[in-house]
Amino acid sequence: NHESLLDKLNRPLRDLRISVTDKCNFRCQYCMPAEIFGPDFPFLKKNEVLSFEEIYKLAKLFVDSFGVKKLRITGGEPIMRKELSTLIQMLSSIKGVEDIAMTTNGSLLSKHAKDLKKAGLSRVTISLDSLNNEIFGKMNGRGVKVEEVLSGISAAEEAGLGIKINMVVQKGVNETEIIPMAKFFRKKGHPLRFIEFMDVGNSNQWNLKDVYPKKQIIEDIHSVMPIEPIDPNYTGEVATRYRYIGSSDEIGVISSVTDAFCSTCNRARLSAEGKLFTCLFASNGHDLREPLRSGFSDKQLINLLSTIWGSRNDQYSIDRNSYLKENKKREKIEMSQIGG
Ligand code: GTP
Ligand code: 5AD
Ligand code: SF4
Ligand code: SF4
Repeated sequence: NHESLLDKLNRPLRDLRISVTDKCNFRCQYCMPAEIFGPDFPFLKKNEVLSFEEIYKLAKLFVDSFGVKKLRITGGEPIMRKELSTLIQMLSSIKGVEDIAMTTNGSLLSKHAKDLKKAGLSRVTISLDSLNNEIFGKMNGRGVKVEEVLSGISAAEEAGLGIKINMVVQKGVNETEIIPMAKFFRKKGHPLRFIEFMDVGNSNQWNLKDVYPKKQIIEDIHSVMPIEPIDPNYTGEVATRYRYIGSSDEIGVISSVTDAFCSTCNRARLSAEGKLFTCLFASNGHDLREPLRSGFSDKQLINLLSTIWGSRNDQYSIDRNSYLKENKKREKIEMSQIGG
């Protein structure tokens, strides 16, 4: 029993995030810039991607042997994976899984929300960076219309899925959308979380001066609709929560850059090709596909996972400043491969 397995910084493993594809139908500048992720980009081939059986087997080990209770399905865009609801159904059959969530761009939900819910998905976090078609079309790199995502949100509502909204804020790009988005989703009754633009991967030309900081986001909203901080829902919650004073409507801010939250980070990330990453900003993952395919026993796999988690000492968001100061270069995994 590894339930109490802790990493080098005393952090347990609670949350497994599973990327099911490295492909996406959007080309968000901050994630998969079209100049880099073009028609010739070498996406994973079918046999390089973990099968549903392989994902199931690993997920079950994480749950049975390590006390993981939360699963999150990510991509790329997870619904690009064929028959995704079959995988959801397999994962929801694992005893001990309390919560299966998915991070999605929402564009394919109109078609799939019902099936996914039926298969056992509890909730979705839908990314939307603007309500303005011009701004949104530019940010998503494909001219996708706001309405397309809004119909995805409606489909998720109708299907009875829990819903949160993620908005990445980039200075000079969409900070004017903070208030309109806050008003819109308050009315809709969905928690909106503002995410600071992060230096994930190596492709998005990140610069500290393009970060619109948490403090500023809070001030902007507070001056129009007063808010107050509230307690986290659970230890290690990524978003810091605020409530509009006098109501139970809430927002969140995810401040990896200006207010790091590594000290409670209990998340492991499995890439579509079967590498385990112990940090969103890791340079390398630990390959689990080869061990799986070469017939490792459960016991051998458990030992491998224990060693990986037991050696973990990542805290990139805390270390970021020293990286920046010393101008150290670091190769990082791309967001589209690890799913955020
Ligand atoms: P809940 O279970 O609803 O609390 O979900 P969550 O907030 O953990 O998941 P979600 O995928 O919605 O996280 C929101 C975004 O926060 C992600 O897409 C990432 O951009 C960012 N994020 C999540 N976890 C981490 C993390 O461990 N480190 C950093 N730097 N960013 C993270
Ligand atoms: N900085 C902050 N958030 C990002 N996301 C993708 N790339 C970045 C980045 N560079 C967000 C997406 C989505 C989730 C997967 O992470 O918008 O909400
Ligand atoms: Fe696709 Fe999400 Fe990345 Fe945008 S942020 S390119 S929707 S995976
Ligand atoms: Fe966890 Fe790495 Fe994010 Fe810190 S930077 S919270 S260690 S994933």
